[in-house]
Amino acid sequence: MRWLGKVEEAAASWDAEYARGRYAGEPPVPFTEDIVQAAKRAGLHDGIYLGCGSGRNLVPMIEAGLDLIGLDISATAIEQLVARVPDRRDRLVVGDLSALPADRRYDLVIALQVLQHGTRADTHALLEDASERVAPGGLFCVRLNAVGTDLGHAADVVERHEDGSFSVLYREGPKAGLTVHFWAAAELHHEALAAGLEPVLRPRPHSTWRPDGRSQWMQFEAIYRRPS
Ligand SMILES: C[S@@+](CC[C@H](N)C(=O)[O-])C[C@H]1O[C@@H](n2cnc3c(N)ncnc32)[C@H](O)[C@@H]1O
Repeated sequence: MRWLGKVEEAAASWDAEYARGRYAGEPPVPFTEDIVQAAKRAGLHDGIYLGCGSGRNLVPMIEAGLDLIGLDISATAIEQLVARVPDRRDRLVVGDLSALPADRRYDLVIALQVLQHGTRADTHALLEDASERVAPGGLFCVRLNAVGTDLGHAADVVERHEDGSFSVLYREGPKAGLTVHFWAAAELHHEALAAGLEPVLRPRPHSTWRPDGRSQWMQFEAIYRRPS
């Protein structure tokens, strides 16, 4: 695969986060309902969820009728997920896209809050690799960090682009030492079209206020389709 980030470093960081209880007991993001509805409208059920974490979104989508393979580089996340849905053990994988058969394409490719780890170039390459996995007629469903987010922890901006997007290297907090990209809507749309996809739901912002009520973080949510 062409993801240029430090996979082992990211996996260790996420392992520590899940061990501290990240996402435990959290409800799914409402966008999962849009994904399930879009899949049903298109008559699609099977696919992959890249960066499924410990399952706050994966489990409800499975319960709603989707048959998804869950992939995550964090062994701790997958362990927690297997404990939650042991009957899905053979469909939960520690790894990234390279863990899948190289020539397999899927009706549904879902990537929620994962196509944001690394620099602009890293995340564009990851989006391209993930979107290549979408079968003709299939759906590509993404939720990713958006410009407009108030950074919650100390970070250095390491790059800015004229489209408004930027990447930061966190100095503090759970992502200390990791580089994270904040996408512009036009950037996401451009990359999806360049990957040969057509829009079903154009990038829309979704803002969540942090518990202290003083700042918010924003994500773009979008659904694209690979023409048949
Ligand atoms: C912000 S968390 C989101 C988890 C889950 N999608 C959710 O919304 O609950 C990002 C997840 O992506 C995983 N991850 C990061 N880079 C990855 C990659 N290249 N392939 C697979 N998983 C990745 C991390 O281990 C982490 O569990």
